[in-house]
Amino acid sequence: MDVQITLIVDGAERSLTVDTRTTLLDALRDRLAVTSPKKGCDHGQCGSCTVLLEGRRVTSCLVLAVAQDGADVTTAQGLGEGEQLHPMQEAFLDRDGFQCGFCTPGQVCSAVGMLREAAQGHPSHVTADAGAPVELTDEEIRERMSGNLCRCGAYVNIVAAIRDVTAKEAASTTGVAAPAPKGSAGS
Ligand code: FES
Ligand code: FES
Repeated sequence: MDVQITLIVDGAERSLTVDTRTTLLDALRDRLAVTSPKKGCDHGQCGSCTVLLEGRRVTSCLVLAVAQDGADVTTAQGLGEGEQLHPMQEAFLDRDGFQCGFCTPGQVCSAVGMLREAAQGHPSHVTADAGAPVELTDEEIRERMSGNLCRCGAYVNIVAAIRDVTAKEAASTTGVAAPAPKGSAGS
């Protein structure tokens, strides 16, 4: 069955007709020509299709487009302001946090969503005290990014890029630079 829906994609209102079985990923890529989210596994296992849906990260291959009528969707290509890259994108560039780039849009969206979740106090599997503010250690970053796979092995640089952004955010909030990372093991 076909249904007409509207999505706000990277700030622009887009109307489209979708079969009710169409995933958000296919709606973005095949119907709206928004190709930043990549189709890797199409089964929710690689994270390359990650977008921000109403500000929260989701694997868009597991979400039905018809259920998102009116929703706000941000892909990696909509994260920045015009020509100005998002700080996370800058950090990935500065740290060489990608190689082939296929997973990078999902990694960047996931990293942005993950920082928000941590700032809101959502614990992860490795958070020792679920009631305390989240300290974004390398272990926390690796755990929270574990749904995003990169077969090129850029994980160490991805962790470094995310740490750079957290350090800058901490410095701008407190005026004090965040402590240097204790280790640099990849995830
Ligand atoms: S394509 Fe969606 S998680 Fe792999
Ligand atoms: S940079 Fe991620 S798969 Fe290659």
